[in-house]
Amino acid sequence: MPDPMIEPQAERPSWAIIVHGGAKSIAPELEDAHRSGCLLALVAGQAILEAGGSAVDAVETAIRVLEDDPTFNAGYGSVLNAQGQVECNAAIMDGRTLDVGAVAAVGGLRHPISVAASMLSERQVLLVGHGAECFARAHDGEMCAPGDLAVERPDGGCDTVGCVALDIQGHLAAGTSTGGLAGCPQGRVGDSPLPGCGLYADDAIGAVSLSGDGESLIRTTLAARLIHSLEAVPPGPAIEAALTRLAGVGGEAGLIVIDADGRLDWGHNSPQFAVAHARAGQAARAFTERAQDASGELS
Ligand code: GLY
Repeated sequence: MPDPMIEPQAERPSWAIIVHGGAKSIAPELEDAHRSGCLLALVAGQAILEAGGSAVDAVETAIRVLEDDPTFNAGYGSVLNAQGQVECNAAIMDGRTLDVGAVAAVGGLRHPISVAASMLSERQVLLVGHGAECFARAHDGEMCAPGDLAVERPDGGCDTVGCVALDIQGHLAAGTSTGGLAGCPQGRVGDSPLPGCGLYADDAIGAVSLSGDGESLIRTTLAARLIHSLEAVPPGPAIEAALTRLAGVGGEAGLIVIDADGRLDWGHNSPQFAVAHARAGQAARAFTERAQDASGELS
């Protein structure tokens, strides 16, 4: 019996968007903040898509909202490494051109995702540390003191935020942003800024954004596996196959997907995964576990 909350959709939606706030354990008293934070980001991205804007702009806009929200470990709200420093990573990929912009191990950027987006027109894919900060300064990036991004956290504050969008021109984009792992060694970089590991977008196939144990996601190149699966199967089975592969090396993850036909889905093996999604003809909704979004088949 189909879930009446999720209207089956025979036709490709004109636009679709899904955001996440990290694969992790979410304390019951923080669940509302995660749902409302994801919804706020979703609505900001949705407004861009409804106005005919690009998937890239929608993804950047949604992630900026998540970077502003200290509920999430990205931008303002980032965790501290073993030296007590903030080191952020972010990336964005344009499925139309396969351009990628990414920054890693940066502490002084107010919005790492926007600096990554500024890099989409550059030849280089990834800039790290001081080099990324110099690039940001030269491109009017919003700078801040690294300590300004740290907050007192009631939780461990682990993991990543992300967004995937399909625009009315049929283009896809994916993005990620994270403050990394609390207490990790200085200079450690996880999956989030690495295409094929934490994100990927290709208009011909789909777009994906991942969250979870960065080292496991890198070892399994999980975003790349997910994209290859989408060439053969819908998002649901592709997500299942990716989580099965991840089980072989261990580690938690959450995955959000929109394929080239506009089908969106998400999954996780972490205790919770805060997600919000919407598409043309289907109102925005937010969840902290896939089981709550229980149609079984999102189309
Ligand atoms: N998934 C985020 C990280 O491992 O840094």
